[in-house]
Amino acid sequence: MAVLNGKVALITGSTSGIGLATAHVLAEQGCHLLLHGLMNEAEGQALAAEFAGQYGIKTFFSNADLREMDSIHQFMAEGAQALGDIDILINNAGIQHTETVAAFPPEKWNDIIAINLSSAFHTIQQALPAMAQKRWGRIINIASVHGLVASVNKAAYCAAKHGIIGLTKVVALECAEQGITANAICPGWVDTPLINKQIEAIASSRNLSRSDARYQLITAKQPLPEMLDPRQIGEFVLFLCSDAARGITGAALTMDGGWTAQ
Ligand SMILES: NC(=O)c1ccc[n+]([C@@H]2O[C@H](COP(=O)([O-])OP(=O)(O)OC[C@H]3O[C@@H](n4cnc5c(N)ncnc54)[C@H](O)[C@@H]3O)[C@@H](O)[C@H]2O)c1
Repeated sequence: MAVLNGKVALITGSTSGIGLATAHVLAEQGCHLLLHGLMNEAEGQALAAEFAGQYGIKTFFSNADLREMDSIHQFMAEGAQALGDIDILINNAGIQHTETVAAFPPEKWNDIIAINLSSAFHTIQQALPAMAQKRWGRIINIASVHGLVASVNKAAYCAAKHGIIGLTKVVALECAEQGITANAICPGWVDTPLINKQIEAIASSRNLSRSDARYQLITAKQPLPEMLDPRQIGEFVLFLCSDAARGITGAALTMDGGWTAQ
């Protein structure tokens, strides 16, 4: 039986990687989907139609830029009008830029903080009233191991990911009596386009093939010598949406191949 039949889920950044895989997992369980990401309107509408056809669910697509608060407010209002109030909010969209603090471009800092952290504040603020009224809600923020530990050249990313874990905890405390849980998932390496530049940088600086560079990137810090499949994150999200997980809130849950066990 589809366990999330009729629930409405918003997944930011669901045109690619972890967000897209999670969209498939939730659609299989009967969730209506507010799909979102930087994709042109025609491709986005085609993606939404494909999901609707494949799973028999209602869908809505937005390519709102998460750096703009007004765009976030607008697309969430339009999405709720089209599909109903949001029951499951997954703050997943994110970008990366690697450079030392000394050389880090301020505009990249601003973009990463806006997309990877502040957008989650705005979506949560918009989604909470309806969740509180229904006395049911699931907020899942896709953080990272870099919300728990640091790596060189990732100042903005680590700041944003540490920040989103703090935000998650506060939301969990404030909503604990309202049937709403808030959790952060902290993955290690996941096989998505986000990490392509890091692989390419290792390949060119060490004169390695792409697959050797990929292996070196993974094993530099992660004991499990393989990348996670994005769908594994989606399955974890599904568990956190289940009734069995109603006692899990305010947690930063690792799925990191042992990275932070060291
Ligand atoms: N891939 C990994 O190894 C890994 C590890 C830990 C955490 N994460 C986190 O998982 C999340 C998803 O990353 P992914 O690896 O699937 O990346 P991805 O590049 O495949 O997808 C990122 C998504 O965010 C959207 N996005 C980017 N900038 C945006 C903007 N300005 N406005 C609106 N949408 C925007 C993109 O359109 C895309 O849909 C991110 O928060 C990332 O930090 C990834």
